[in-house]
Amino acid sequence: MEYYKDLGNLGINRTEPHGASISWPDEKAAISMSRSTNQFLRNLAGTWDFFYANDRFEIPAGCHKVEFDVSGWDITPVPSCWQAQGYGIPHYTNSVYPIPLEPPYIPDKNPTGIYRTEFTVPESFSGRRTILHFGGVNSAFTVYINGTECGYSQCSHMPSEFDITNMVETGLNLVSVEVYQYNCASYLEDQDFFRHSGIFREVYVYSIPEIHINDFHVNATLGDDYETGIVHIECNVSNDNGTLVYRLLDPYGHIVIDEEIFPGIKCSFQVDSPELWSAESPFLYTSILILDGSDFRSCRTGFKKVDIKDGVFMVNGKPIKIKGVNRHDTHYMLGHAMSRSSLYDDAVLMKQNNINAVRTSHYPTDPYFMDLCDEFGLYVIDEADLEAHGFYYDDPDYDVSDKEEWKPHFVDRAKRMVLRDRNHPCVIMWSLGNETRYGSNHLAMMDEIKKYSDDIPIHYERAEYSEGPDVVSVMYPEISKIVAEGEKKDDPRPYFLCEYGHAMGNASGNLKEYWDAFYKYPRLMGGCIWEWIDHTQITADEDGNIFYGYGGDFGDVPNDGNFCMDGLNYPDRTPHTSLLELKKVMEPARVFVSGENGFEIENTNVFRSLHYLDCHMELLKNGYTVEEYNLDISDIGPGMKKHFINPFTVPDDAEYCINFYFTLKESTLYAIRGFEVCKSQIVFEKQAKLVNHKSTGSSEIIEDGRYLLIYGDDFFIRFDRLDMLITEWIHKGTPMLVNGPSPNFFRASTDNDKTRMKKLWKDMGLDRMYGRTTDFGFTNVDGKVTIKVSSNYACSGQKPLFRVDTTYMIYSSGTIDVITEFTPMRKTDYIPRIGTTMKIPLEFNAMSWYGKGPHESYIDRQESALLGVFEGFVEDQFEPYEYPQETGNKLDTRWLSLCSHNDTGLMIIAEKPVSASTLLYTAQELNEKNHQKDLVPDGSICINLDAAQTGVGNHSCGPETLEKYRLYSRHETTTIRFIPFNRLEANEDELYALNKN
Ligand code: GAL
Ligand code: MG
Repeated sequence: MEYYKDLGNLGINRTEPHGASISWPDEKAAISMSRSTNQFLRNLAGTWDFFYANDRFEIPAGCHKVEFDVSGWDITPVPSCWQAQGYGIPHYTNSVYPIPLEPPYIPDKNPTGIYRTEFTVPESFSGRRTILHFGGVNSAFTVYINGTECGYSQCSHMPSEFDITNMVETGLNLVSVEVYQYNCASYLEDQDFFRHSGIFREVYVYSIPEIHINDFHVNATLGDDYETGIVHIECNVSNDNGTLVYRLLDPYGHIVIDEEIFPGIKCSFQVDSPELWSAESPFLYTSILILDGSDFRSCRTGFKKVDIKDGVFMVNGKPIKIKGVNRHDTHYMLGHAMSRSSLYDDAVLMKQNNINAVRTSHYPTDPYFMDLCDEFGLYVIDEADLEAHGFYYDDPDYDVSDKEEWKPHFVDRAKRMVLRDRNHPCVIMWSLGNETRYGSNHLAMMDEIKKYSDDIPIHYERAEYSEGPDVVSVMYPEISKIVAEGEKKDDPRPYFLCEYGHAMGNASGNLKEYWDAFYKYPRLMGGCIWEWIDHTQITADEDGNIFYGYGGDFGDVPNDGNFCMDGLNYPDRTPHTSLLELKKVMEPARVFVSGENGFEIENTNVFRSLHYLDCHMELLKNGYTVEEYNLDISDIGPGMKKHFINPFTVPDDAEYCINFYFTLKESTLYAIRGFEVCKSQIVFEKQAKLVNHKSTGSSEIIEDGRYLLIYGDDFFIRFDRLDMLITEWIHKGTPMLVNGPSPNFFRASTDNDKTRMKKLWKDMGLDRMYGRTTDFGFTNVDGKVTIKVSSNYACSGQKPLFRVDTTYMIYSSGTIDVITEFTPMRKTDYIPRIGTTMKIPLEFNAMSWYGKGPHESYIDRQESALLGVFEGFVEDQFEPYEYPQETGNKLDTRWLSLCSHNDTGLMIIAEKPVSASTLLYTAQELNEKNHQKDLVPDGSICINLDAAQTGVGNHSCGPETLEKYRLYSRHETTTIRFIPFNRLEANEDELYALNKN
């Protein structure tokens, strides 16, 4: 039987798994860990010969032989995924297996990639052992050295090593690898991602002395006082006679331990008051092991203790909150093959966004990322490469979790993970994998884990409340559920949200409510957002348009469409607005109004005071900064609050805000000095009325069949009496409007709306409503033309939904007031919005506004958007979610101006703040298209001015929009003034002050 079909075969000639350490030439090299100068290491990354066989019959006979002629073959980079290089097709499926359900059998057609390269075994390897290392190969592979079979391995995300000493010679050698798309254990790798194949992680050869260290475990923990450091060290060697020395260097390079230790025996040393490792202050020591003065090994070490007391999860004796994300190794061009630079970018971006933890969903991540987590300070929930989601949880035929023959696979996956990663201080929990029925094989995994690492808690979501794992872990609970769990007193286990806040498209509503609960209840240990980044494979259509492909774009069946694009970041690692919101709700310095004239600042850090942040305050009048102040916050200790008296006097002549900007005092690994860590705002709201506009001249009104033609001092307006909206407005020779405003209740569905509301709203006809006029009249008095319209709005085949009464007041100066009153005519489920929509010419694309910003905000995702005056181009107010949807809303907009390049345009002032958006596409267009590239711009600027809009929620995977953020049909009025203006004559601030008080 082929190896890859044999469930009993987990590997052939694979050496024992061990920590990610290679042998260094001397102690200095071991300390620096600079791989490029290590003469005992040869990285085999590069261009390899490659042959893609659709099935086993296409594999060329003799292709692993040295003399085989590969001149007809392709070349491919290693590491890489072959689907990302144009072989086979990228295939995205969530839980549905890409193969029939017949475990452990796999399809006869099993695509196979053959990789070959020559490599040099240098002189420096002579007299030593040569090890061939594969960091990760999906899904299984057989290796040949110089034409002879050398071994076999499986389990995609774990390293495999082979001792090839006796198969190689100094000089050129040939490695040839046969990689199978599926193997019988592929049933355990049903993670929600693009199904990629190939040698996707590093391949290298390294050499170790004949008498060498096999593996070592450094566990730097703390005594019961949480102050005394204890280093437990255990080391396995190939021959127990050697002399073994252990050294520990502190973060400043001083030796703190220098002792002889004994192979196979756990030795413990005490270190007084070491610097501790935590995500906030990741102090790293360096461990060095030297065997016989010839095998030099090393790893970074951090003093850290994880424990659980009275249901509270603690690091170094302090209750911590997991401010986490779920992260896949995924790259928009490379598939699962991660470049070091993009792993680095991820770590930097996480730290910049106040993230302190990563769940390595759903397999151990690239080993380099583990190093970065140690170094940057990110807690890791390290997850085994194990998911059998496509079997779901109750069919005994598929019960891999209880069947004996699958047990070795479960255990192997746990063992290889723990042995690879246990020396990393960043690991705070081991996870048994994802979405596989909890069974006895998981219990075996736990036993295995404890053999190698007995003081790190174990996590497994599918265990739910069963015994075993150390925390209760859940996915996507309602707020009410976590509050109830927070209140519980009888469960000694902390409560963890291993997934929540599904960030698919315009999403991640009510993160604030999650964090309010996490902070309130000690038992709630926080959670990890699903997920860090959108998965895609970049591709092009027939016309050459490049786009981010998702399931179904490649002829891949079965697929789950755009469900893979559910990250806090776009595929190119640009943040979505949901990441900005997450950053805000997890901020280290929170500001609260306190007392008559004061505020409180709370430090949410657990280990450090706010001494590392500057706090700069600004007083804003109607959105513009008028005063500044620097506040000293350095003595606010971890977990402490401090009260301050407001340093500004706040008059009541206008609307005022106090902004707080918290920035880094010193540059760090992840950001430079001055970087904004968080910001807050206190608003002294002033609800002003629109000042009555005085007409000085006079206007003329002419009835022309369907139209009313209105002529004023400097303008002409045509009002359509059939569609009941303005269809032409020329001011001083410039067209101001394409048409509008008219009532609107529709939005392009978000990914969250698709679960239930999209269909409902379509059925309600919200996208195709029209009015029947019940009342119409106009007057022309004292230079003011007043038009009044009452209409009932409905779509064909349905009862009217709203009565809308609109009053237009057109002043002879050209200013127009539009008062729109919405009265529901029947009860319905909640709707997306109540407001008006209009179109203006494309030239007015330079916009400013006084409202929330600068990024889009929604009623349930607005913490990160502060009130202020912002400016930008209309096209930039659009978030290009690959699956087009509602975007660009600006809550609480007081005024909005849209100008052309010569500073003339339209100033829009709302009496009561509105939600405003300006887009180049209609909602209908955004609703219908599947990809950004397919969107056809409307040719005008589409403006929405809403009394209210429903929140974004979490419903693509998780709870629907919270009840309080749903917009049920209700009575609303918007009063909006439109003023044609020239910024050089009077700017927005002046106009606003003139028109409102
Ligand atoms: C979870 C699962 C993740 C992902 C998510 C939906 O149930 O663990 O892998 O599929 O749902 O995006
Ligand atoms: Mg799944």
